[in-house]
Amino acid sequence: MVFDAKYLVAFVALSLVGATVAEERVADPCAAIAGQKWVSPKDVRACYSSIKVDQTLKTNIIDVVNKTLAFHTSVNYQVKAPAPFTSDVHEDLLADLARIRHQSYKSDYDLHVDLSRTLKRLNDGHCVWINRCYDCASAFVNYVPIPLVLLTAPDGSQAVHIAPEAFTVAKAEFPDQIQFWQDSLPGPLKGSLESLSGAKVVLINGLPPFNAVNDNAKITGSFQAFGTRQNSFFASYQAGATGWTYSMGNFAQQSLPLSDNVLLTVQRVNHTLPDTFILPYRSRIGNIKAFTDTKSYLANNCVAVPGTNGVDVYTISAAEVAPSEAPVAKFQQQPVVSAAVARKHPLNVILDTSPLSDVVLPPTLAPSLPAVNGSRHAAQFYLLKDGKTGVLALGSFSDSDYNAFLDGLLTGLVTLKSQGATQLIVDVSNNGGGFICAAHWLHRIIIGPKSTTVPQAGLDTAARDGPLAQLIVKQIVNNDADPDLQLLYNPLQWRNASNQQFGPHDDWLQPPVKKIINGRPDAFSQRLGQECQPDGFPENVPNVALFNPKKVVIIGNGRCASSCSLFSITMSKHEGVKTVVVGGKKDVPQQYCGTVGGQSTDFSTIDTEIKSTHLKNNTLAPPDLLVNGVQGITWRLGFGITDPTQPEEWQDHPADLNLPLSGNTVNNPVAIWEDVARRLFA
Ligand SMILES: *[C@@H]1O[C@H](CO)[C@@H](O)[C@H](O)[C@H]1NC(C)=O
Ligand SMILES: *[C@@H]1O[C@H](CO)[C@@H](O)[C@H](O)[C@H]1NC(C)=O
Ligand SMILES: *[C@@H]1O[C@H](CO)[C@@H](O)[C@H](O)[C@H]1NC(C)=O
Ligand SMILES: *[C@@H]1O[C@H](CO)[C@@H](O)[C@H](O)[C@H]1NC(C)=O
Ligand SMILES: *[C@@H]1O[C@H](CO)[C@@H](O)[C@H](O)[C@H]1NC(C)=O
Repeated sequence: MVFDAKYLVAFVALSLVGATVAEERVADPCAAIAGQKWVSPKDVRACYSSIKVDQTLKTNIIDVVNKTLAFHTSVNYQVKAPAPFTSDVHEDLLADLARIRHQSYKSDYDLHVDLSRTLKRLNDGHCVWINRCYDCASAFVNYVPIPLVLLTAPDGSQAVHIAPEAFTVAKAEFPDQIQFWQDSLPGPLKGSLESLSGAKVVLINGLPPFNAVNDNAKITGSFQAFGTRQNSFFASYQAGATGWTYSMGNFAQQSLPLSDNVLLTVQRVNHTLPDTFILPYRSRIGNIKAFTDTKSYLANNCVAVPGTNGVDVYTISAAEVAPSEAPVAKFQQQPVVSAAVARKHPLNVILDTSPLSDVVLPPTLAPSLPAVNGSRHAAQFYLLKDGKTGVLALGSFSDSDYNAFLDGLLTGLVTLKSQGATQLIVDVSNNGGGFICAAHWLHRIIIGPKSTTVPQAGLDTAARDGPLAQLIVKQIVNNDADPDLQLLYNPLQWRNASNQQFGPHDDWLQPPVKKIINGRPDAFSQRLGQECQPDGFPENVPNVALFNPKKVVIIGNGRCASSCSLFSITMSKHEGVKTVVVGGKKDVPQQYCGTVGGQSTDFSTIDTEIKSTHLKNNTLAPPDLLVNGVQGITWRLGFGITDPTQPEEWQDHPADLNLPLSGNTVNNPVAIWEDVARRLFA
C-alpha cells in the first residue's frame, strides 16, 4: 500500500493534537489559490486568514507607523477636526495604535484590516498605511461587473443605477471572466448581463442603496467630506497619462476581498417587474510575485523590498531604486515620476490602496474632439463645438517630464485662445495631485501676475517641529550633513514668511512655534513662504492673464486632492472661479476638493533624512520596516485663505453647483462640459 506522505503526516498529527492541525497540514489555503488568475474572494480570505500574527513584525509595524507619525503635521488636529468636518474626522491615532499593540488577532490579515481602517478613519489620503501583502495594487482585487452611478431624473429625483456603460466596460476589462458572471445569473436573466446596464437599483442586500453607499463612506478613507466619500462608491472617469480611464468605484471594485456576493433588486430599462438576483464577486490577481503556498506567498510578497526603507544618500554607491519599482509609487495617485525629478520638484499627492485605474473609458464615452497642441499625458486640451469654450482635462499634476508638462500647460491655454476660446473649463476629476509648483504655475498663468499669484501662487506652509526633526536640521546646519542639497530638511530648500531664502546655517526649526491643538501640546516650524518662483517656473511666464476668472470653471467629482486642492482652492477663494461637483447626492454638501496637505511624503523618505544625517540609532528614529509596507504622511501643511491662522485642510470648500447627471451625460466628459458651459457661461 502506497501512502501519500502528506496524508500520513496529517494522520499522525490528527491522532496527536486534533483536527484543526490536520486540516492545515492537508490543505494550505494559499496553495489553493496559487497560479490562478481569478479566484473566489472567500478563498483569498482563507489564504490571508491562515497567516498568523508574527509578534516581531507586529511590533515593527507599530513602531514604524508610530514614530513616522511624529513627522505628520495633522495627528493632533485629527483627534477632532474643526467645523465643518467635526463629525467626519475624529480619530485619536496614537490611542488606537496603543490599543492595537495590546489587542490580539486571529490572523495577520485581521490585524492588517484593523490597522488599515484605523488610519483610513483619518479620512486623509496623505496619511495611509498600506501593506502590499494584502492591499490590492499587488495582491487580489475584488470585482463585480456592474459599476454603479447616481442619476437624476427630469423631475429632480435621484436614484442609484447600474451604469449605462457597465456591460461595455466589463466585456472589455474582464473578457476571461464575463462568461462566469453570465452563467451565474438566475433563470431568464442567465446570459443577459447586458440587459442590466442602466437598470435602477432598488435594493442592495435587501436595503435601500444608500445604506451600502454610506457604509462604504465610513471605511473608504482619503477625503474628509462625507459627500466625497459617498461619491467613491460610484464609477467615474479620469484623464490618464496613457488615455482616458474608468474608475469602477468602490461598489464594483474592492481593494480587499470583503464581499463574496451581492443581492440586488433592480428595475431593468423597459421592464415592468423588478428582478432580484445574487451576483458573486470575483478576485483577480494583481501585480504579485508567483507563489505556490503560504510560505512562498509570504517570502515573495510580504517582506521589505528595495525602496521600503530609506538610504544614506551619502554612502550608497548602488543605483537608486527604479522609480516604477519604488513601493510608494504604486499607490501614488499620479503617473510614475522618477526619484530624481521628485527630489527636485516636491510633490503633494495622495495614496490609495487601489492602484491608479487602467480600465479604459469606453470609446463611445471618451472625447472624440481633436486634442489641442500642448496636450500631453494626463493634461488634454479641447475646444468645444461652440468654438468659445476651451477645456483642460487634467487628471494629474504629475508628468514624467516636469518642464515639458509646464510648457505644455501654457502652450495648450495659448493655443485654445488663438482658436477663439474665451472661457475655460478645467476638469480635475480624480486628480490626486502631483507637483506643487505645477499647481502654482497653472494658477499663475491663467490669472496673470497679481498679489495672489506673485510671488506666492499657492499656500504658505509649516512643517511639524518634533525633537527628531530638530536634530536632523541641526546636523545639516551645524555639521554640514547635506553638502549636496539632497535633503528635505536643508534650509536652502525653503523661504521664510517674507519669501526670503534661508541661509545654509539658518536653523529654520528654531524656535518651534508652540500650539495647543485639541488640548495637546504641539510644535510647528515658522511659517514658510512660496517655493516655486522663479526657479520652479519656466522662463517664459506671460505677463497678462490668459482668461478672465469669471469665465473659468473648475469641475470634478470632488476627488481632487493635494496639489489639485492647492490649485482649486486658490482659484476659488482668491480669484472667485466657480466650482462644480458632478453627480453628488443633492441633499449632502459637496466639497469641490479635499485632502489639501501642503507637501506629502512617506516613511522611506523620512528614513532617508534620518540615515543621511546619522540619526538612525536615536531612540526616536523608526526602525527599518521589515514588511512590504508604505506609510504616507503630510510633511508640510498649508495655511488657510479665509482663516490664515489655521490650516486650510479642514476649512470649507463648498462647490457652487452640484451638477445632476442623466443616463446621457454620466461618465461622458464632453456631454458634461457642454452642460456646464450652458449653465455657467450663459
Ligand atoms: C509611540 O511613540 C511614543 C514616543 O516614542 C511612545 O511614548 C508611545 O508609547 C508609542 N506608542 C505606541 C503605540 O507604540
Ligand atoms: C427602451 O424602449 C425605448 C422605447 O421603445 C427604446 O427606444 C429603447 O432603446 C429601449 N431601451 C432598452 C435598453 O431596451
Ligand atoms: C505646437 O506647439 C509647439 C510649441 O509651442 C510648436 O513648436 C508647434 O509648432 C505647435 N504645433 C502646431 C501643430 O501648432
Ligand atoms: C525673512 O528673512 C529676512 C532676511 O533674513 C528677514 O529680514 C525677515 O525679517 C524674515 N521674515 C520673517 C517673517 O521672518
Ligand atoms: C550611533 O551610531 C554611530 C555610528 O553610526 C555611533 O558612532 C554612535 O556611537 C551611535 N550612538 C549611540 C548612542 O549608540
